[in-house]
Amino acid sequence: MKGIILAGGSGTRLHPLTKVTSKQLLPVYNQPMIYFPLQTLLKAGIKDILIIVSPDHSGDFVNLLGSGRQFGARFAYEVQDAPEGLAQAFIIGEEFIGKDDVAMILGDNIFTHDFTSAVQNFKGGATVFAKQVPDPERFGVIDIATDGKVLSIEEKPEQPKSNLAQVGFYMYDNKVIQHAKNLKPSKRGELEIVDLANIYLEQGLLNAEVLQGDWIDAGTFESLYKASTIVRENNLGMNLEGDLKVQFEVQDVKKPAGI
Ligand code: G1P
Repeated sequence: MKGIILAGGSGTRLHPLTKVTSKQLLPVYNQPMIYFPLQTLLKAGIKDILIIVSPDHSGDFVNLLGSGRQFGARFAYEVQDAPEGLAQAFIIGEEFIGKDDVAMILGDNIFTHDFTSAVQNFKGGATVFAKQVPDPERFGVIDIATDGKVLSIEEKPEQPKSNLAQVGFYMYDNKVIQHAKNLKPSKRGELEIVDLANIYLEQGLLNAEVLQGDWIDAGTFESLYKASTIVRENNLGMNLEGDLKVQFEVQDVKKPAGI
């Protein structure tokens, strides 16, 4: 399975920090944010990775990450000229994906979940992942029946049907490229990731798994601060001194009060 890290976007919610750099290059305690989604893919056994960046700071990503050899992986880069939606990644990445299945992770999503078995057991269609949150209206919301069947998936609904947020890790079969090309931009002018999921849902090919462990979308000041605190308190992240040491197997994540 190929991997994509989507690190485009203008990060306006983090202005002025993101006026001079990309959101995904900002520090989460002692490491650039993108190290975390990168580590999630590497840990899941995905080593062939396309990094999609915005034009403004594209050179900085290459300076930081290079060819991927340092990480025991191979990186390719593409530019997303304008923030026209998460689903556009599969159009931009068409050539890179080739005939393979693909997993995409958002460049500002930090997980302690291990996706290895999900990747190994992927059998086509699409798989999305859900996490219980107190504020589902901020996210894509997945409604799942007790037998695990997905009932609906909606982007930032005013009246959420569940408290399960769609997190920023997705797996698709190769048809995702064609499905993405068939999408029409939403009212906010974007190719929506939820619209892709709905194509698979209509075909009875959408699976959802509820996440173990922690998940943070670090795209706001508050969540970035919380992410830094969790990473510091639990000594999470990459150890690049020796072998790539994956330290995300934390059972009881220590959190500061209020998280
Ligand atoms: C995006 C997706 C949303 C998902 C979220 C996870 O939202 O559109 O479905 O729940 O990522 O981080 P955004 O953060 O771009 O508003």
